[in-house]
This record gives sequence, structure tokens and C-alpha cells, in this order.
Amino acid sequence: MNLSPTLNVAVSAAREAGNRVLRYFDNRHRLRIHEKQPNDLVTNADTEAEQILVQSLSRAYPDYGIIAEEGGSRTQPGQHAWVIDPIDGTTNFVRGIPHFAITIALVLDDEIQSALIYQPVLQELFLAEKGRGAFLNNHRIRISDQETLEGAVLATGFPHRSKEHLKPYLSSFESLFTLSGGIRRAGSAALDLAYVAAGRYDGFWEMKLAPWDIAAGILMVREAGGYTSDFAGGRESLRSGNILAANPHIHPTMLSHIADSGLIDLEPVKPLRTKTVRTGSNRPDTGPRKILRRKTQKSTPSK
Ligand code: IPD
Ligand code: CA
Ligand code: CA
Repeated sequence: MNLSPTLNVAVSAAREAGNRVLRYFDNRHRLRIHEKQPNDLVTNADTEAEQILVQSLSRAYPDYGIIAEEGGSRTQPGQHAWVIDPIDGTTNFVRGIPHFAITIALVLDDEIQSALIYQPVLQELFLAEKGRGAFLNNHRIRISDQETLEGAVLATGFPHRSKEHLKPYLSSFESLFTLSGGIRRAGSAALDLAYVAAGRYDGFWEMKLAPWDIAAGILMVREAGGYTSDFAGGRESLRSGNILAANPHIHPTMLSHIADSGLIDLEPVKPLRTKTVRTGSNRPDTGPRKILRRKTQKSTPSK
């Protein structure tokens, strides 16, 4: 893959940040761990990695905005912005579970231009650029060709920061678990999406995520031939934090089970600092063009 200059810079920054994160992973006694809010951890590894990323990206592109999880955000509408999660999967990281990633997306207003998800332990580097496909360590990746939910391997994340929504979430889990071949909960939304792009999972859904958890993964899945949408089948995932990503065969079926569970009724929540990630009028990615209503009502395609 011939990388654009922007993605090249992101790759070097991610590798440097990845080395720092790995040093801490091998020396976890040096970690200082804080709870930002219940069930939401940050460590000195997160903040140092974010500093490395913000500094490298800002040095190369001083006019671009930043939307980063651990506080380093500055954006203006109409400007390119980097959307950064220095460690996606911090709970895994803190526990010594080697499943976490650095993730970076470049967005211009509503559109995700390029995407990087880097798993430093396995040195798996997932990259995508708009209109140019998705790659894992330089090899093109494609979503799976699993045609039915029966036998499908799905991934999800539990709503551990919004337990008030547990009931409808568990209802979606129950139907998808009953029908599919199995469900994984591995603890990094960015890697869940990268794995859908690579065909390792057939589909993934999770609610109330932040833009930095999913921006890179949305483009990755789309460029690998998959569909992404919110729980209404629309294109508001970056704003609502609700995401369903799957191969085109099973996306519609998953969507109707999720809509049926009641998750569709949840109020979209504006994520933190999303000035440059406006999604009001954007059509996401490749994906179904209709907005699903709950099954009890009739589906009405949006005009
Ligand atoms: C978390 C991971 C996890 C998801 C959480 C995210 P963090 O990101 O993506 O899989 O379930 O909701 O917040 O906090 O480790 O960067
Ligand atoms: Ca995250
Ligand atoms: Ca994080």
C-alpha cells in the first residue's frame, strides 16, 4: 500500500507511541492508574502515549485539529482533525491482557479520510484510506463472506458506563446470542472493528462509545467491504456512539434484532468535543440507506 503523507506520519507516531506503551506493559509496576469516572481508567501510559501522538501529528500538520481522549483537544469546524485514542482497551492493558490498540483517524468535517489501528503486542497494523481499501501489515483485508447469523462469530462490548441501558442491551444480546455461532467481548472497540474488517468477526455492535473508539474502525470496515450504521440503520454513529458493523449479508438481520430489542429508542448522546466530527447530514460509510423503525412499526425508508 502506498501511504498518503498524512497516514505515513500517523504510522510513525503510532509506532513511537506503541513502543512507549509496550515498555509500560512490560513494567506494569510503573503504572499510575486513576479512575476518571466509575469503570473508566486512565494511566500515565495513556497520557504519555497521547502526548507523543499529539506532538508528532501537530509538528507535521500544525493547522489540523485534535480530538483526543485524554484531554488534548483543539478543533475548528471546516478543519482537518485527528481523532485519537492512545490506548483503546485500557482495562486490558492495566490487567496485563495483551489486547489493546492505538487508534488514529483523520476526519474532515463529516468524512473519515484515513484510519489506523495498531496492536503493538502482535505488531498488527491496520490501515485504511478512503476509496483505497483496508490493509493489515500491507496485505489487503476483506470482511467475511458469512451469509447467515447461524454460525456467525460476533463481537460486542457491554454498556459498563451506561448500565441504565442494560435491559435493552441484554435483549439484543439474547437474540443475537441465540441465533449466532458465538459472541466475543474482548475489550477494545477499535480492535473489534478492525477484526470485522479483517473477517475475523462477522459483526460487532456496541452502544455509547466515543468518537475516538470507533472513527478509525468505521472507515476500516467500510473500506474492507462492510456496512456500518447506528442502531436505526442511519449514519449517526459518531454522534450517538451506537455502532453496528458487519458484512453486508448479516448487517440487515443484526439491525432488525437490535431495533427490536429497544436499543433504537435511546436518545443519541453527543460525545465529548465533536465540533469537527459533525455528523448531522452525513451519510456514513457504505451502508443501508434506510432508517429502521422498531419491528412493531413498519420500516420506512428515509427520503
Ligand atoms: C473502551 C474499549 C472497550 C469499550 C469501552 C471503551 P478505553 O475504551 O473500547 O472495548 O467497551 O466502552 O471505552 O476506555 O479502553 O479507551
Ligand atoms: Ca477507547
Ligand atoms: Ca483510551
